[in-house]
Amino acid sequence: MILYKKATEIRQILSEKSVSGQTIGFVPTMGALHEGHLELIKHSKLNNNITISSIFVNPTQFNDPKDFEKYPVTLDQDLYLLEKAGCDLVFLPSVSEIYPLGTQLTHSYELGYLETTLEGKYRPGHFQGVCQVVHRLLDIVQPDTLYLGQKDYQQSLVIEKLITQLPYPIRIHVVPTFRDASGLALSSRNLRLTEPQKMAATGLYRSLVFLKENLAPGDLQPLLTRAKTLITEAGFSA
Ligand code: PAF
Repeated sequence: MILYKKATEIRQILSEKSVSGQTIGFVPTMGALHEGHLELIKHSKLNNNITISSIFVNPTQFNDPKDFEKYPVTLDQDLYLLEKAGCDLVFLPSVSEIYPLGTQLTHSYELGYLETTLEGKYRPGHFQGVCQVVHRLLDIVQPDTLYLGQKDYQQSLVIEKLITQLPYPIRIHVVPTFRDASGLALSSRNLRLTEPQKMAATGLYRSLVFLKENLAPGDLQPLLTRAKTLITEAGFSA
């Protein structure tokens, strides 16, 4: 596995690979890697000649500075896991490498309702920051296929929209959510949860499974009430 820190160097090596007909699969990450990320690497390896991953905790997608400060960083472990998973190249840029002209957003991405619904409603500016970094990373890597986790479903729709605004073709491959035995979706931020909080979080999964198993034509209200109860019983408040 070869590690690059400079955008120009990784662009050079990847353009040589593309010219020689090799396909490139790209797995962008913010580090603190887990099995879910390794699934993305696995899918990329199965379908491409070259797999590249990036590790960059993007400051512009954190609407809450405290969330940015607390974001888990486990770089040595991440590199070990990527190497073990057979990742070919890793891009590990600095902030100035990604944002040579500063982190200020100079272009507003047209995301429609995706920007203000669900997660967008609670994290203003978040998806613009995601587009800003993913746009820059895609300009550098120019992969054939981009691998994203279904766990961040709204993010994958946002990036799909971003890609339609770019001048080169990129395929998106969304890989199913990876869950542990309790049903908890693996996430880097789980490192910040206590054991009781992790247990409580599985209430969300139980509620989703309940809805999936019981969904039928007719009045949905009793189903929704029961699903909400499962979540509040787990310890969440409305
Ligand atoms: O999903 C993530 O880890 C990040 O939002 C991404 C896509 C790497 C952009 O920083």
